[in-house]
Amino acid sequence: MTQVRFFSGEHTPLEMHKVRIVQKLNLPPVEDRQRHIGDAGNNTFLLQNSDVFLDMLTDSGVNAMSDLQLAAMMVADDSYAGSATYTRLETKLKEIFGFEFFLPVHQGRAAENILAQTFVTPGSVVPMNYHFTTTKAHIRLNGGEVAELITDAGLQTTSDLPFKGDMDIGKLEALIAEQGADKVAFVRIEVGTNLIGGQPVSLQNMTDVRHVCDEHGLLLVMDASLLADNLHFIKIREASCRDLSIREITRKIADLCDIMYFSARKLGCVRGGGICIRTDQTYRKLRGLVPLYEGFLTYGGMSVREIEALAVGLEETMDEDMVNQGPQFIAYMVDELVKRGVPVITPAGGLGCHLNAMEFVDHVPQTQYPAGALGSALYIAGGIRGMERGTLSEERQPDGSETLANMELLRLALPRRVFTLSQVKYAIDRVSWLYENRELVGGLEFTEEPEILRFFYGRLAPVSDWQDKLVAKFRQDFGDSL
Ligand code: F0G
Repeated sequence: MTQVRFFSGEHTPLEMHKVRIVQKLNLPPVEDRQRHIGDAGNNTFLLQNSDVFLDMLTDSGVNAMSDLQLAAMMVADDSYAGSATYTRLETKLKEIFGFEFFLPVHQGRAAENILAQTFVTPGSVVPMNYHFTTTKAHIRLNGGEVAELITDAGLQTTSDLPFKGDMDIGKLEALIAEQGADKVAFVRIEVGTNLIGGQPVSLQNMTDVRHVCDEHGLLLVMDASLLADNLHFIKIREASCRDLSIREITRKIADLCDIMYFSARKLGCVRGGGICIRTDQTYRKLRGLVPLYEGFLTYGGMSVREIEALAVGLEETMDEDMVNQGPQFIAYMVDELVKRGVPVITPAGGLGCHLNAMEFVDHVPQTQYPAGALGSALYIAGGIRGMERGTLSEERQPDGSETLANMELLRLALPRRVFTLSQVKYAIDRVSWLYENRELVGGLEFTEEPEILRFFYGRLAPVSDWQDKLVAKFRQDFGDSL
């Protein structure tokens, strides 16, 4: 990893790129922020971006693109079928990952739809380290169930374990023994495990999962959406990989999988997705659904400009200086918040800094969505938009009862190469202020609750006048500051 030591001894993440295009930001006054979050049904997904100062909702489709990616968009070959752009992507994918076949899709969940429709049957089960919201929804829609086999240590919010995303091999073997390999649709590994705080999976664990799959003749499917961060962590945390290049680690990972799918909104810093496939037989099984749901086989619902930029973005992801930017900024934010006593997921992972709402606002019951409430409060406190990753992001049980999440997280995503260090410092400051004033934060209740993926567009209201009190305290402490 690039090591630039500061004379002062300070640990400061240093950008190995410069900013060449900027977007003006707006920070509305606190009273307006309270009104905006109310208009948005206390759901940060429903805020207007023009009312958001730091958009830490996600890294999806909002990573900064490089000059070379933008330039590549200009030479895209715009044709429905047989586009030269598509061939360039296919060649690049084969070079990096080594799979024989590829199917393009419009984004990650489209790949999940195709995989679930093809392999998941009623009564089947998909063992995985941890679920992602859209993954689980597609598996359930096809009559299957998800079995989460994360190690117990993976669910400990604070720890110094390097690979909290690892699957528990003992649990995997027990599940196969209990249910029978016939019931297993496929085994899924999600790298950079999203919902438990962007925690990485070790190459050793992936190898162990592969062995179990081989023993039982099971397909191993990898969700590689957050591969970039995971590559960085394998490189710096897994001793046996220290001397390997990012490209070599990537190939070792890919070689273990039968199928590797990804959201290119994350991996490759564009907007799109794809499925890399090992065998002709599997390729033929999946192929039919692409023209049906996505588009012809040489674009799959993506714009050719995005495809062209994806080929470049994947190549850039093989650069250590590129993949370490997100994790280094996240580590800075996590470390600074830990110093201030704020409960965050440790060790720092990828994707973003994750506030542990279960502890941050431990007086708010899970049925009143502590992470959602914290998201609403942080927007009021600083115009910062985070994403609830807790009970609100779960779906109710068939009998209508809540599925209480294992973790209540407010994710503050750091899209790659987007924010400056002073903006990150601002976020740390406002989170710290909120922590000092955490007793003021109250719960939320639904006023409108969709049945599927309710977190996207459900609407909620505060259970009391706690937001008025929070705004009054902000004015008292910050005077006329925005
Ligand atoms: N898998 C993982 C691990 C993801 O993080 C996502 C998206 C998807 C699949 C679905 O991909 O959005 O392109 O359809 N995660 C986004 C997020 C939404 O904000 O974390 P998609």
